[in-house]
Amino acid sequence: MGKRRIFLTSALPYANGAIHLGHLVEYIQTDIWVRFQRMQGHEVHYCCADDTHGTPIMLRAEQDGVTPEALIARVHEEHKRDFAGFHVEFDNYYSTHSPENRELAYEFYRKLDGAGMIERRPIEQYFDPVRNLFLPDRFIKGECPKCGARDQYGDACEACGATYAPTDLKNPYSAISGAKPVKKQSEHFFFKLGNSTDFLKRWTRGVGTLQPEAANKLDEWFKAGLADWDISRDAPYFGFEIPGAPGKYFYVWLDAPIGYFASFRNLCARNNIDFAEFTDAVKSRDAGTEMIHFIGKDILYFHALFWPAMLERAGFRTPTHIHAHGFLTVNGEKMSKSRGTFITAESYLKQGLNPEWLRYYYATKLGPTMEDIDLRLDDFVARVNSDLVGKYVNIASRAARFLTDHFQGAIDVAAARQSSDPLIEGARTEGVLVGSESYDPRAFGKGIRHVMELADRINKAFDGARPWELAKDPARAKELHEICSRAIHGFYVMSILLAPILPNLAARVARDLFGMKRDFVWDDLNTIPKRIGPYKHLMTRVDAKQIAALVEANKESLQPVPPPHSQQRHAEHQAHVTKKTEGPVSTQAPPSPLPPAPGGEGKSSSASTLLTIDDFNKVDLRIARIVNAEQVEGADKLLKLTLDVGGVTKTVFAGIKTAYDPGKLNGRLTVVVANLAPRKMKFGVSEGMVLAASGDGPGLFLLSPDSGAEPGMRVK
Ligand code: 2FM
Ligand code: ZN
Repeated sequence: MGKRRIFLTSALPYANGAIHLGHLVEYIQTDIWVRFQRMQGHEVHYCCADDTHGTPIMLRAEQDGVTPEALIARVHEEHKRDFAGFHVEFDNYYSTHSPENRELAYEFYRKLDGAGMIERRPIEQYFDPVRNLFLPDRFIKGECPKCGARDQYGDACEACGATYAPTDLKNPYSAISGAKPVKKQSEHFFFKLGNSTDFLKRWTRGVGTLQPEAANKLDEWFKAGLADWDISRDAPYFGFEIPGAPGKYFYVWLDAPIGYFASFRNLCARNNIDFAEFTDAVKSRDAGTEMIHFIGKDILYFHALFWPAMLERAGFRTPTHIHAHGFLTVNGEKMSKSRGTFITAESYLKQGLNPEWLRYYYATKLGPTMEDIDLRLDDFVARVNSDLVGKYVNIASRAARFLTDHFQGAIDVAAARQSSDPLIEGARTEGVLVGSESYDPRAFGKGIRHVMELADRINKAFDGARPWELAKDPARAKELHEICSRAIHGFYVMSILLAPILPNLAARVARDLFGMKRDFVWDDLNTIPKRIGPYKHLMTRVDAKQIAALVEANKESLQPVPPPHSQQRHAEHQAHVTKKTEGPVSTQAPPSPLPPAPGGEGKSSSASTLLTIDDFNKVDLRIARIVNAEQVEGADKLLKLTLDVGGVTKTVFAGIKTAYDPGKLNGRLTVVVANLAPRKMKFGVSEGMVLAASGDGPGLFLLSPDSGAEPGMRVK
């Protein structure tokens, strides 16, 4: 095959959260594929960027008290650090909030508008009257119209799986302010996707464009009919304003895939690559270049419908291939913060775990389909230890020692050549076993099985020859030399085959053990090294305790009083993860009596008693949603409040009747003391206390959190 010229991308992660092990499935998969192609001598430009626009990022910045620009700049550095930590090597890691992306988004828009693909029309949407913004579906919550489950998002019910329009929700409320949303009209811009149906049907059927499951999914969508796509959002919004339409912004998903081009254009400008050869409809055909996107199966709709339709209508090339992968589960379940399986890339590395262990484990599980992959933590330990340390590295550590001790590191090349193991032969002559049947079609797991079979055979032959006995008998030196040379050659072959997965290890093997001045390339399979340098330790075993510590470090405890050392850990962790509590809030452990106030020397006796931070931490303050407020018969000050404290319901009698009409409180967020010992009152048991401000004059004012807070979040 001639030299392939590929522009390749992974999906752009949002700029408001940390990279976690779920993200890494995709980046590691893509990086392995890229490294394999490069080792074969192909030209690959691997581009990615942060996906920086949209309401969640705007709100997150507000919550953090920074500008969106400052937020995305910080996250950009964190993302780059995490990817580098896992040896994911982009040629460019850019941002959708870039001049190139703005220019390209405008160019697409102009061309699509010119082609009659954009239509404006008014729509009615939910609007948050407190925050003065239109609410994205995910920011409207309420009761599922089908099953009645509470606190469901505006697009789908997590309890029964029903999908619906936000306007179908019962008792809707804004997830930002807690206010009851109102319906409001506004003019929106639509991309007329339906006009591209014929083109998309043809494109989908292109050979190798989509995996069969993905193509089937598309057929379902075609059958249902392709609806127009709403590509505008009203201010306030963090994104690009639509030219000639003040106050209207491109929806984040319009400029996100264009961000692939922007990242690549930025790279091309720096490295003198011809952008048009990879992106223009005609020039790319002439040049025979490819454009490939690796994505998660959840964003197939955007990549296999909107994006190719936009590209085609705007005169750009369309993707050669879209490869969708499944989701990651940990121990067979969705990643969970309370179980400690929502593991960030940063925490993995901070625990001192080797990134190549994870690269290897993922590779063993990765195939060409959209099937989910499961990270079983005990299996992870067993697999890495048995395959990488027990089988692979073990060959080198044993054979190399004899070669250096007895033969000054020289390899018996003739013996190595004679080792006619069919696996080595296959790998050497055609790269068949691991190349065209594994890496290229993304069947990494299959390739690894072959490599480990090879390891088993080498180890078996080595053990069968009993080199430790041969070494004692000078008359059998030749036999010893032969078996060790074969084993080390097998190790050399395996190192080349595994190099896309274990790039750091392979580079050390190439340089330190085989004395090469460069990293391995696939063609190295055709040569046999002549000597080795002194063996240096290559890889340690995973200790199951390290994994237990990792899980512990990622647990978001809901205990009201974490011990001081774990608080420190959580504080670090939370700086990088959008916190969303799960599971029940503890109602145990009523506060213990406060220690005596610190000595009063020089302190005014009228000042509030001073508390230590530990004292303060004993009070478990939580965000609560008032799901129901009602009058209490016979009480003149009290209202009975039913609170949702992140999945736990509490009843609280609050003395706020004079200030609040119960009907107006429904849906609103406030702060509750969640670990107050339950108190039996005349009208029932009160299980907490809501916080309100009052002064000397009349008036009582319930506290409200800033936007973004959710029921159950801890206040501290
Ligand atoms: O789903 C996501 O995480 C998006 N940020 C992916 C965008 S990929 C591309 F289209 F930009
Ligand atoms: Zn439901």
